[in-house]
Amino acid sequence: LRPALGFERLRRIYDRASGRYDLQHGLLTLWSDQRGRRLVVEEAVRPNDRILDVGAGTGSTALLALAAGGPGSTAVLLDSSEEMLAQARAKLAAGGRADRAELRVGDMMHLPFPDGAFDVVLSTYSLCPVGDPTRGTREMWRVTRPGGRIGVAHSTEPARPITRVLGRAVDSLAWRIPALSLGCRAVSALPALVQMGGRIVFERRIGVPLWPFEVFVVGKPAAVPNHESGRSGTASS
Ligand SMILES: C[S@@+](CC[C@H](N)C(=O)[O-])C[C@H]1O[C@@H](n2cnc3c(N)ncnc32)[C@H](O)[C@@H]1O
Repeated sequence: LRPALGFERLRRIYDRASGRYDLQHGLLTLWSDQRGRRLVVEEAVRPNDRILDVGAGTGSTALLALAAGGPGSTAVLLDSSEEMLAQARAKLAAGGRADRAELRVGDMMHLPFPDGAFDVVLSTYSLCPVGDPTRGTREMWRVTRPGGRIGVAHSTEPARPITRVLGRAVDSLAWRIPALSLGCRAVSALPALVQMGGRIVFERRIGVPLWPFEVFVVGKPAAVPNHESGRSGTASS
C-alpha cells in the first residue's frame, strides 16, 4: 500500500480541488464513479434510514441516499474539508434536501458519534486517501447499529497482470501530482469488515481497466461483539 499523504495536506488539497472535484473525478473515471455511488446506495440504503456518509465530499452520494431513504431519512455528511462540504451544502439546497442533512467537519479516523448511531454508513472513494483505511472501516463498523449496513466503493488494483503493470505506471505518474491524484490510491477494506463479523450482501468490481473500483455492502449482524469496546450489541429494529 502506497503511504498516504498527511491529514492536513489532504485537507488543503481537497479544499483547493472542491470547485472542480466532481468534473475531475468524473472525467478521470469516465463517470464510473457515479455508477459506484448508485450501486452502493441501491444496495445499502432503506426507507427512513439514519445515514452517515464519511468523507462525503461534495455530497453526491448523500443526495442519492436521501432520495433512496425517502422523506423519513436523515443524513450526516462528515468530511475533513470545509470547502468540499460547502459544495455539498449548495448541492443539497439545490436538490431540496438540505433540511434532512447535517454537515460536520471531522476526521473519519475518529468519528464523533456513539456506537451504533446509524442504520447505514457509506464511504464512496473516501477510504482511498486516508492514512489507515482499516482504522476507517473499524470506525464505520463501530457507529453502525447491529442489524445495520455498511456500503463502500474504493479504488482497487487492476485484476489482470498486464493492466496491473500499466495501472501502476499511470498511478506512479499521477502520484507525483497531488492535485491530479487527490491522494487516492488502491486500498482494501472488505477483509477487515469480514473479520469483524460483517456479512457480504453485495460485491462487484466496476470501473475503467486502469482504475477499477471495488463496490460492496456488508451487513452488521444483529448481535455481534462490538469490535472497539468488546461489548455485545443487539438490533433495535
Ligand atoms: C475522493 S473524495 C470522495 C468524496 C465523495 N465521497 C465522493 O463520492 O465523491 C475523498 C474525500 O474524503 C475526504 N477526506 C480525506 N481524508 C479524510 C479524513 N481523515 N476524514 C474525513 N474526510 C476525509 C476528502 O476531503 C474528500 O472529500
